[in-house]
Amino acid sequence: MSNLARRSIMPDTGNYLTIEGGHRLSGEIGISGAKNSCLPILAATLLVKGACHIENVPRLSDIFNMAKVLRSLGATVNWTGRHSLSIDTSNVSCLEPDPVLVQKMRASVLVLGPLFARFGQAMIPLPGGCSLGKRPIDLHLLGMESLGGFVAENDEAVTVKLTNGRRPVGTTINLNFPSVGATENILMASALAEGTTILNNAAREPEIIDLANLLNKMGAKIVDAGESTIIIVGTSELRPVSHRVIPDRIEAGTYIAATAITAGKVTLTDVCTDHLTSLLQRISSTGCKITTEIDKITIDAPDVLRSTDVRTQPYPGFPTDVQPQYMALMTRASGESIFVEKIFERRFLAADELRRMGADIRVIDNCALVNGGRKLTGCEVNAPDIRAAAALLIAGLWADGSTRLKGLGHLYRGYEDPVGKLSALGARIAENNFVTDTATGISQG
Ligand code: UD1
Repeated sequence: MSNLARRSIMPDTGNYLTIEGGHRLSGEIGISGAKNSCLPILAATLLVKGACHIENVPRLSDIFNMAKVLRSLGATVNWTGRHSLSIDTSNVSCLEPDPVLVQKMRASVLVLGPLFARFGQAMIPLPGGCSLGKRPIDLHLLGMESLGGFVAENDEAVTVKLTNGRRPVGTTINLNFPSVGATENILMASALAEGTTILNNAAREPEIIDLANLLNKMGAKIVDAGESTIIIVGTSELRPVSHRVIPDRIEAGTYIAATAITAGKVTLTDVCTDHLTSLLQRISSTGCKITTEIDKITIDAPDVLRSTDVRTQPYPGFPTDVQPQYMALMTRASGESIFVEKIFERRFLAADELRRMGADIRVIDNCALVNGGRKLTGCEVNAPDIRAAAALLIAGLWADGSTRLKGLGHLYRGYEDPVGKLSALGARIAENNFVTDTATGISQG
């Protein structure tokens, strides 16, 4: 795919960030609720009839989009506080989410399991989202089929319908890869199934445990979420609940990398330290001093960072969602670091833009070699996806001069108030609006 086509996947907000590099971060900030937990949790409210209350909801465009997806199905979704949502699914009757919304965000596919389980059928336009290479949904469909759904697919949409009876039927499902989204869809659909489902090779991410905790509060019987084999004893009805979303480990990992690149000292509050084990091990081996409490992490970064390698893996391995930010960090470390990406095909999109800033990065298939220690220079860069946007922001914090970061639509999919949080830590960063003069092609700040 050309760069142009890649960038057109997400509409740009028309704004850009100006980041003046060279300021050490220091102080304390709070981490928001986890986007990747909140999205399936919002989808799971479709399993019940009534109003659920969800706390610690991050204010992000992906969350706003999921709220619109739920509304497009007939749910009433209201903010009841800055980070609390009430979702009343009593009047859900439409089983086909708006294709325009689904195209914007791959996680919309998470409504498939709950709709199928509660109503016996669902239609999902083929999802969009980040440009991370091929992102099929075959494992989600395998799950629905195994639970008694008949799957019909064409170029534009997938329909799943119960073939017999009124409820999905529990069974044994073996995933050939521990897909996070497929595990979530299967948990939600099997929670309302007749009989027991055994899910083998399930994803083990903390977001899976959070979803299972929500479902168990609703009345489901899910055992061993967080392990490779999960057992789900189906029940005929679930009830509305209140739930608080876990902290965002990816946002925490991003601010840890931001602190390290500026040789700063920052405390992150409202985190779950246990979810960050592999990341903290990597960061410690660069020479950063890490102090942890249950819900607090302080990172104290040295002036000279050691290079370390990264191999992304499903949880509890190093998260692919922090790999680009860590790559930005390794441009500052002395020596070579090797990155091996094991989850997505096209997860080195940040490398092209980091090179424009002067980074020495070579990409060969699913490996990237970063020859660190060169000073980066600020320039205009374009974010090609959510985590690459964060990586470029991090690089800008350390680069000489000023960096203009465009493609903020991606950044705001995954980060709540990054300008406010980084400014509170002493970063010099501002959001500007530009008007492109189409006649001259000149961008004006
Ligand atoms: C979730 C996260 C995303 C993260 C990813 C991996 C959410 C909303 N998003 O995405 O931020 O980067 O986990 O940790 O939680 N695959 C298939 N067939 C399928 C499904 C997936 O082949 O049916 C492949 C994908 O192409 C990819 C790999 O499995 O190569 C991982 O995908 P998956 O774990 O499903 O990620 P998501 O749930 O989409």
